[in-house]
Amino acid sequence: MRLTVIGTGYLGAVHAACMAEIGHDVLGVDVDSAKVEALAAGRPPFHEAGLGELLARNVEAGRLRFAISAAEAADFGEVHFVCVGTPQCPGSDAADLRYVDAVIDALAPHLHRDTLVVGKSTVPVGTAARLAARLAGLAPAGAGARLAWNPEFLREGYAVQDTLHPDRLVVGVGSPADDELLRAVYAPILQADQTPWISTDFATAELVKVSANAFLATKISFINAIADVCDAAGGDVTTVARAIGYDNRIGSRFLSAGLGFGGGCLPKDIRAFLARAQELGAGEAMRFLREVDEINMRRRRRTVDIARELVGGSFLGRNVAVLGAAFKPDSDDIRDSPALNVAATVQLQGGQVRVYDPAAMGNARSQFPSLDYAPDAEKACEQADVVLHLTEWQEFRDLDPAVLARVVRRAAVVDARNALPAERWQSAGWTVRALGRTFAPAA
Ligand code: UDX
Repeated sequence: MRLTVIGTGYLGAVHAACMAEIGHDVLGVDVDSAKVEALAAGRPPFHEAGLGELLARNVEAGRLRFAISAAEAADFGEVHFVCVGTPQCPGSDAADLRYVDAVIDALAPHLHRDTLVVGKSTVPVGTAARLAARLAGLAPAGAGARLAWNPEFLREGYAVQDTLHPDRLVVGVGSPADDELLRAVYAPILQADQTPWISTDFATAELVKVSANAFLATKISFINAIADVCDAAGGDVTTVARAIGYDNRIGSRFLSAGLGFGGGCLPKDIRAFLARAQELGAGEAMRFLREVDEINMRRRRRTVDIARELVGGSFLGRNVAVLGAAFKPDSDDIRDSPALNVAATVQLQGGQVRVYDPAAMGNARSQFPSLDYAPDAEKACEQADVVLHLTEWQEFRDLDPAVLARVVRRAAVVDARNALPAERWQSAGWTVRALGRTFAPAA
């Protein structure tokens, strides 16, 4: 089939490459010509495992092209996927729908024949119904220009795998014919993996996505709330998480306590969900999401507090090494990164902060130019009074604490991701602090 993917960010670039990989002819469309040029040359504009090879292979095979014109997209595609961002509105919790609206407004006037436009962006419930009317109203094809909603659940770092082997596919459609068309688009995936197919109305499809993210955020904040009680009572949250995780009604995933969630999705999605529920008169039901957000944001403050305590009560005149800038490992995404939030706060409180991240240095430097950056973990730790482990890259787990102990001024580490081999660090002479765990001083 001939597909277009409009918006080639984290979601769209991966979706375009994966749709080409399963055999479709794909045109990726973006207003950013630099991004389009990079993608057309087979270069992903961000760090995502496996995407480079996938792009190169499909561009080479002629199944994947990129362009900037909405008219070209309309002319080319039988099905158009909308993958633009829905960030938080400045000054409010609601989602900013200007990019989604702009795609419909740009594309619709060129739709002269029957077409299906498929939204994948995360939107407040009710958006698809509104856009369906707008699309049909603006398109020369009238009611032949139809809308569907097909939320995505991919995780950065596993985006290719999640797109080619999703654990479920969800579509909100206006007719059985549109359901059939989308099944045809995804047929190779459905056949290969027997993927569950959930076909529903617009509102339910929209709600599946925001509910999934709200649940995941709640799970993380739940275990982080338990971490606070562990700190107060002298318990170990990692053992609590492991033990409750064996109950398969609970499950062990998304129970890693620590610095909490960040990124371009969970934080803004729970806020937008709450804002939308309030608009619908169901705000009370979703009020707990405010607490989920509060618990999460407190993690950042708590990490700064522990670090300040470790350096004697004030950051003035103290060197602070920060390991990690990305919002999570295996990504160079720094949107709402807890690590950079902590780094910037420590700096604002007078600390000399030096940051190292395996992949996010370029992004971090451009967003936080006033922080100091080091070319590797060891250099970041030179003369440090405290080391903050804020993003759990494997590279940091593999560090030799004995080597680092020789370059720091004081061997003290905050493992804000509960991911370092604490005993090994203690044996190498480090004072180790974490969130939700207390370590006896090394013998
Ligand atoms: C998330 C959802 O998982 C995905 O389904 C949705 O489509 C987009 O949002 P992503 O933002 O890529 O994906 O990251 P994810 O792996 O979910 O992690 C989100 C944040 O939670 C990260 O900051 C991570 O460090 C944190 N996290 C995750 C925890 O603090 N503890 C955990 O146990 C798991």
